[in-house]
Amino acid sequence: MDIRIGLGWDNHRIAAGRLLILGGVTVPCEFGLDGHSDADVLAHAITDALLGALALGDIGLHFPDSDPRWKGCDSLVFLRHAAGLVREAGYRIANIDSTVILQRPKLKDYRLPIREKLAETLELDVNQVSVKFKTAEQVGPVGEGLSAEAQALATLVRATT
Ligand code: C5P
Ligand code: MG
Repeated sequence: MDIRIGLGWDNHRIAAGRLLILGGVTVPCEFGLDGHSDADVLAHAITDALLGALALGDIGLHFPDSDPRWKGCDSLVFLRHAAGLVREAGYRIANIDSTVILQRPKLKDYRLPIREKLAETLELDVNQVSVKFKTAEQVGPVGEGLSAEAQALATLVRATT
């Protein structure tokens, strides 16, 4: 098979006294996201998209949140690991598309730094990494400012040697 596609989704609770880290970039904000690791919801969704494309389970299988090694961990570690698995399987990432759904703060000024950080982590060109932002129109837990979500798609193509 020459092309594989993976889907990732994640959700983290908003919490005071935590950092808001998206795609490895810390966004200035009076609240952040709660989680066992650094709670980088975008990095987690992209990691799951890569694992999904390879049919290798999900992030919790590879990095259990019961394992103290991953407490407070930089989630780019998970992403880098998944990118390594892509290479080991004989594929390369053609592109990543993603969406972060967060009511506030406005994230669009952070789009390029986030894309650059993800591209560097995945060893891609920045034009292979898309990051989009949506509010939830003040509806539901995301809209009420209780949580943040992220979705991602990854397309892999067979690497030519
Ligand atoms: O959710 P909505 O369609 O109203 O978002 C409009 C635009 O606002 C988005 O296309 C995105 O560029 C920007 N946005 C943002 N930060 C958010 C949510 C949306 O920059 N947290
Ligand atoms: Mg997560």
